[in-house]
Amino acid sequence: MSAYLACFEESCREQFAADLVIYNCPRCGGLLEVQYSGSQPPAAELKRTWRERRMSNAPLDQSGVWRYREAIPFLDDLRHAVTLREGSTPLLSGPQAARYGGLDSLIFKHQGFNPTASFKDNGMTCGVAQAMRLGRNRVACVSTGNTSASMAAYAAAAGLAPLIFIPNGNISYGKLAQALEYGARTFQVNANFDQILALVRVLAEKLGIYLLNSINPFRIEGQKTIAIEMMDQRDWIAPEWIVLPGGNLGNTSAFGKALREMHSSGLITRMPRLAVVQAEGSSPFYDYMLHKGEFTANVHPETLATAIKIGDPVSWPKARFELDATAGVVERVTEQEIADAKAVIGLCGIGCEPASAATLAGIRKLTASGTMRADADVVAVLTGHVLKDPDYIYRYHMGTLEAPDGTAIAPRYGNKPVVVANDADEIAKLIGG
Ligand code: F0G
Repeated sequence: MSAYLACFEESCREQFAADLVIYNCPRCGGLLEVQYSGSQPPAAELKRTWRERRMSNAPLDQSGVWRYREAIPFLDDLRHAVTLREGSTPLLSGPQAARYGGLDSLIFKHQGFNPTASFKDNGMTCGVAQAMRLGRNRVACVSTGNTSASMAAYAAAAGLAPLIFIPNGNISYGKLAQALEYGARTFQVNANFDQILALVRVLAEKLGIYLLNSINPFRIEGQKTIAIEMMDQRDWIAPEWIVLPGGNLGNTSAFGKALREMHSSGLITRMPRLAVVQAEGSSPFYDYMLHKGEFTANVHPETLATAIKIGDPVSWPKARFELDATAGVVERVTEQEIADAKAVIGLCGIGCEPASAATLAGIRKLTASGTMRADADVVAVLTGHVLKDPDYIYRYHMGTLEAPDGTAIAPRYGNKPVVVANDADEIAKLIGG
């Protein structure tokens, strides 16, 4: 099969070579997607090949991205792929979270089990492979933290120079620490994510640096494998719902594309519905989907779930298309709802970062409104690891967490550490029994 770039806009659909360095359609400015010509092996053969590769010790077979290479055949030479053994993330059952969400059962696909502890690794291994193929030696991104951590790691592993731009004071220390440790040149800019994206696009153009934000369609190809692996792990039985947090909406776009492609090639026989959950203070896509008039960006996005603190999501046209294609819905949740849902996911022994917990908070609202049945088969995607933002956790449990508008977040599931004297009798009394 051979790959090319196509404009995502229905009225344009102009095609371009896969090795052109473009991020938007040069004709109409639309988003780009990777398309393929030629035919894929039959579904049954693919399922067998992909299952057999799980037994292999070859690095690319061990990758939960490159194992599915027939579904993302954009490289003409697989030697450009650099793997840190991304993907292969588990499906975990969370009975307590299910009850909290109003469901009989709930499965989490935990992307925090990735090498840099977020779902970004699935896409980044592909974005960096494309940079290698193009012979670019500097890569850049703006990030709310996870993209930068991931890009730094993959660029370092590939021998490329990573340049990272982050909103000053608005990403968690865990994520910033990763970027520093992986050796990225890191610029903390006094502006928000959306403003910095515009800046980085200018710099990338000016200096010939390869841009690895999710506007890069090769990253979206990699993120498709999260959905593909999920189906493989479920023996190709699609759930009724897949729930995702929504920020820049790259993941929503990737899941929709993966589901459509799997459905049309016969890998799955039912289309799951996508449910995208945004934080109330950063929910331009929720607002847009209510009326579908003009898309209006939120110029002052706010949320403690800094990963999804984005007011002008670049992939909204794709996300809209994918929600229409999957009879999907958008929900929004408050800071308190995110914080409580996160603590409940922790009580399952699973844990996640704040943005990921928007999924469970959203499920609770969707079951309460009757949109999602209690006995529905639901998979929620936990996008990042619990240790990405320990500061948030500590404040929640200490009862000192405040929403961006200064409102106190009640520690409804708080678990404050107890300060005690070095005295066995006293401690025994406290423990009881
Ligand atoms: N969850 C986490 C943990 C994230 O880091 C992000 C995005 C999202 C959800 C939202 O995904 O943008 O595809 O809708 N983080 C980006 C970053 C923006 O820079 O790390 P999305």
